[in-house]
Amino acid sequence: MLNEINHLKETIKNSVAEKVGDVELFRNNFLAKKSVIGELFEKFKTIQGDEKREIGKELNILRQTAEEKYEEFKEKYASNKSEVNTYDKSLPTNAYEMGSLHPITVVKNEIIEIFEKIGFSIANGPEIEDDWHNFTSLNFPENHPARDMQDTFFVNKEPFGNFALRTHTSSVQIRLMESEKPPIRALMPGRVYRNEAVSSRSNCFFHQIEGLYINESVSFADLKQTLYYFVSQFFGEREIRFRPSYFPFTEPSAEMDIFLGTETEQDYRLTKGTGWLEILGCGMVDPNVLINCNIDPEKYSGFAFGMGVDRIAMLKYGIKDIRQMFENDLRFLKQF
Ligand code: DAH
Repeated sequence: MLNEINHLKETIKNSVAEKVGDVELFRNNFLAKKSVIGELFEKFKTIQGDEKREIGKELNILRQTAEEKYEEFKEKYASNKSEVNTYDKSLPTNAYEMGSLHPITVVKNEIIEIFEKIGFSIANGPEIEDDWHNFTSLNFPENHPARDMQDTFFVNKEPFGNFALRTHTSSVQIRLMESEKPPIRALMPGRVYRNEAVSSRSNCFFHQIEGLYINESVSFADLKQTLYYFVSQFFGEREIRFRPSYFPFTEPSAEMDIFLGTETEQDYRLTKGTGWLEILGCGMVDPNVLINCNIDPEKYSGFAFGMGVDRIAMLKYGIKDIRQMFENDLRFLKQF
């Protein structure tokens, strides 16, 4: 037993605590009830005779050695702790990574803000639409090519009948006119879907903002003035032009271009060398559409417009490929 005691004494003397956890480990190994030394004390109780005195003495020395070592370790880490507490509180902290808004969201919010200032409220509708809201009520003839499988993603789910992913936000106009009485002045942002070949300029889904104003004696002049206001707020003072166009749900219909010029490479490319870029479709709501929504076309008239948010975002930020916006690449998204 004396040998064992001497050996342990050496071990204790040579122990080191390299980290704070070692201190507790040391206590468990040597000083706790069930430690090696604790066990020696248990064994000591069974010893008889002359040996007992000497062993008892040596055992006590051993325990004292361990206790001293333990105090030494504790002190070492206590003083280290106070070092930690004296760090310079004025140092900058590690930077937290902040998320940012998607460019589509930034542009959408900006457009909404501009129209809210002139009394437009916001309305939403479902992305899975029935034929009535997406086509029929909007005056699309039965054989209109937009209904073709080429353009529309159909969702055929029995027993509910035929649905499609909405091809435009114009469907929300109908839902609004069906559920509210004029005057109606609303902006309808949302995602739309078309079965198109994906390229740098077009995607199978994109984002539109639809506008609708229905009241007594609304005229084409009101439409033009509203869009002038929008362009001047969003793009700054720029020339715009209206070109006659055709949409089944408006009569007359027009497309609006803004003038970018051809000075920069991007402007030249976007405008195909003409300087003009189409940014929205618009027109006076066709009386048939009003009738489909139980609004009296003799009493009320209105205008509508629809613009593509993705295109405007690409223009604003000089994004060359629409697909970049939906790849979730943080290196891209962090820039907005
Ligand atoms: N719905 C049309 C499209 O998807 C855009 C549009 C044109 C909306 C004229 C309108 C409008 O409200 O009056 O291309």
